Amino acid sequence: MSEDRVRDQYEAYPYPPRDPRDEAKRLIEGSPSHRLEIDHYVFAGRRDWREPFKALVAGGGTGDGLVMLAQQLADIGCPAEIHYLDLSHASRNIAEARIRARELTSVTFHHAAIESLPRLGLGRFDYIDCCGVLHHLADPAAGLRILAQSLSLEGGIGLMVYGELGRSGVYPMQELLRMLGGGDPAERRIETAKRLLRQLPATNLFARNPALGDHLRAGDAGIHDLLLHARDRAYRVGELIAMIDAAGLAPTALIEPWRYDPASYLADPKLLAPLNAMDRWRRAEAAELLAGNLKIHIAYAVPKTRAAAAVAMPDPTAVPILKGAPGIEIARGLKPGGRLTVAADGFETRFPTGAGMGPILAAINGRRSLAEIEALLAGQDSKRWTPAHFAAEFAQTYRLFNSLNRLFLRHTGPPA
Ligand SMILES: C[S@@+](CC[C@H](N)C(=O)[O-])C[C@H]1O[C@@H](n2cnc3c(N)ncnc32)[C@H](O)[C@@H]1O
Repeated sequence: MSEDRVRDQYEAYPYPPRDPRDEAKRLIEGSPSHRLEIDHYVFAGRRDWREPFKALVAGGGTGDGLVMLAQQLADIGCPAEIHYLDLSHASRNIAEARIRARELTSVTFHHAAIESLPRLGLGRFDYIDCCGVLHHLADPAAGLRILAQSLSLEGGIGLMVYGELGRSGVYPMQELLRMLGGGDPAERRIETAKRLLRQLPATNLFARNPALGDHLRAGDAGIHDLLLHARDRAYRVGELIAMIDAAGLAPTALIEPWRYDPASYLADPKLLAPLNAMDRWRRAEAAELLAGNLKIHIAYAVPKTRAAAAVAMPDPTAVPILKGAPGIEIARGLKPGGRLTVAADGFETRFPTGAGMGPILAAINGRRSLAEIEALLAGQDSKRWTPAHFAAEFAQTYRLFNSLNRLFLRHTGPPA
């Protein structure tokens, strides 16, 4: 199958569909490539964002990751140089209009394939975003190798590829729709897909999969992207990690971490003991088999040479930073000894919350270090907040909220 069919699809149906006028109303934030995640999982929470930062958004599409990264870097005054690459003019036009709407000046647009990156002479990047693209390439592993070779030795990459089990039902539907007129023009194929969707038997694997609604809410482009794609494949998390390894990189995180932990789904110690004895990537494979609903995999990776030093670690100088709602708001909703309900793609669970989580979260303001938070709490109640108590309560808070992709650490440099 030629590159042209993938390109033609994204010329006709840029995905996800976006209206540049919406930039006035909201910033779409997500993973990979949120700046707090990049800082935490690629630069150990220690990047000096006053220094120039050169990034590539490979297969930038209609611009979600690009716009988020460019805006977040502009917000902290980082002298950024961001290169956008895509095969599709139509997608690029939308991404470019979104960047223009925000008056961001850090982005250079390139109409090119990832495979041709070495010929563009752009040099090496501090960070590469490649979200939802590798699984459309003729040779994804070769594509990732090309990206890895364009990465600075101090840099890192944020990836998203489709997850095999969570997409269960998609590929039988794609096959069926090829049988029902694979050679028809795109508009007719979309009509056929809509007709079929209305009449699926309840036993159909796609109809039984609660995780796949997003695409269906994205109009014709969503239906085309999900059910009529010119070329896509999906990965088990183990395959993604093997592909990262073969590119000379090491994974530093899977987002969201709790979804890759068997303990999020099982309580029986007899079953958990052998799983807990495995390394974390093997445990992630088990969690995927257990949950069955991981429709995408998001990973950060860095050159193998510095894998051990890439992730931020809690120590007294670390400044915890919450993503999303401020700590004080989260704290208000927590009852001591209560439970926090978490849901994703048809699965719901409740994580226990320790009595110390509320006060700790309320003290996190993105500026105080752990040592300062400890001193603040000890100042309020020195009997309760002994150093050992604070260490234990913070460890529990950090484990939970970091695994929910809400809590990150930053060590030095300008305000986050
Ligand atoms: C599903 S979209 C994802 C866009 C964007 N990264 C995002 O997350 O919203 C996939 C994009 O990859 C682009 N693409 C596919 N194959 C490519 C290749 N070989 N080189 C560069 N871009 C490619 C498509 O044109 C399309 O815009």
